Amino acid sequence: MAKPVLITGASSGIGYELARVCAAHHHDLVLVARREERLLALKDELEAAHGILVWTYRGDLTEADTRQQFFDWTEFKGITPYGLVNNAGFGDLSTFVESSWEKQNAMLQLNIVALTHLSRLYLPKMVAQGQGRILNVASTAAFLPGPYMAVYYASKAYVLSFTEAIASELEGTGVTATTLCPGPTESEFQAQADAKNAKLFEGKTLPTSAEVAAYAYAAMEKGQRIAVHGTTNKMLSLATRLLPRKNLAEVARELQKPA
Ligand SMILES: NC(=O)c1ccc[n+]([C@@H]2O[C@H](COP(=O)([O-])OP(=O)(O)OC[C@H]3O[C@@H](n4cnc5c(N)ncnc54)[C@H](OP(=O)(O)O)[C@@H]3O)[C@@H](O)[C@H]2O)c1
Repeated sequence: MAKPVLITGASSGIGYELARVCAAHHHDLVLVARREERLLALKDELEAAHGILVWTYRGDLTEADTRQQFFDWTEFKGITPYGLVNNAGFGDLSTFVESSWEKQNAMLQLNIVALTHLSRLYLPKMVAQGQGRILNVASTAAFLPGPYMAVYYASKAYVLSFTEAIASELEGTGVTATTLCPGPTESEFQAQADAKNAKLFEGKTLPTSAEVAAYAYAAMEKGQRIAVHGTTNKMLSLATRLLPRKNLAEVARELQKPA
């Protein structure tokens, strides 16, 4: 097997494009999402174009049983990933009191628990083989509180903190952990989050998922600890260290106020 990379949320957006970048670098792939027909179409395309092996797995990663069954399935197939990309995630533009608990809970399960659970399942084998890459997809939202997307921003702060901590623990093992922090990016995210009309996205030309994916793959391969995509996002993430937290919350509130 050619350095297999396992990618969650590979049916659209950044995960879909990451699959294409990894395929172009001759990695075999394991693609996971709920919309399997999209994964199967991508599998056909990438196997034909690059002569790699692609496996697909349909599953809802908010469910603990699904995550365990998925791990067991990869074990059965003899797949120990070289790369684990925890990319699947979603947001919801709404006030905290109006957003449903079901949605908030699913977001916590996917953005935080699934990412942590899959890291815990695969890391021991990656460490034992003495090489590997984890890429956890956070966001520039990780750097500040996010009114109207409170749970989402907090979930991404967790991803950043968790991934930095394990990156430190993994030093010297041959396995690295990278946190990807994209800013607003063209994908299905805005429609899923009902956020198309927020100032943060409205009328803006956003970087494509393909651009973010190319940047992310390079950062993952280098073992970079934190990878903030784009010069403006890098400057904004630095600025969040200087402004008082209260002001940060107000800036984010203005940017995300639903229309
Ligand atoms: N786009 C942005 O502006 C932006 C900015 C910063 C960070 N991010 C982060 O980037 C990551 C990728 O998002 P994207 O922008 O590429 O959005 P996207 O186009 O909506 O893609 C999200 C992916 O996650 C999968 N997914 C959602 N719920 C799932 C579940 N319960 N189980 C398994 N897979 C699930 C979706 O597949 P199925 O629906 O087929 O399951 C899809 O493949 C997310 O973590 C997001 O928070 C995005």
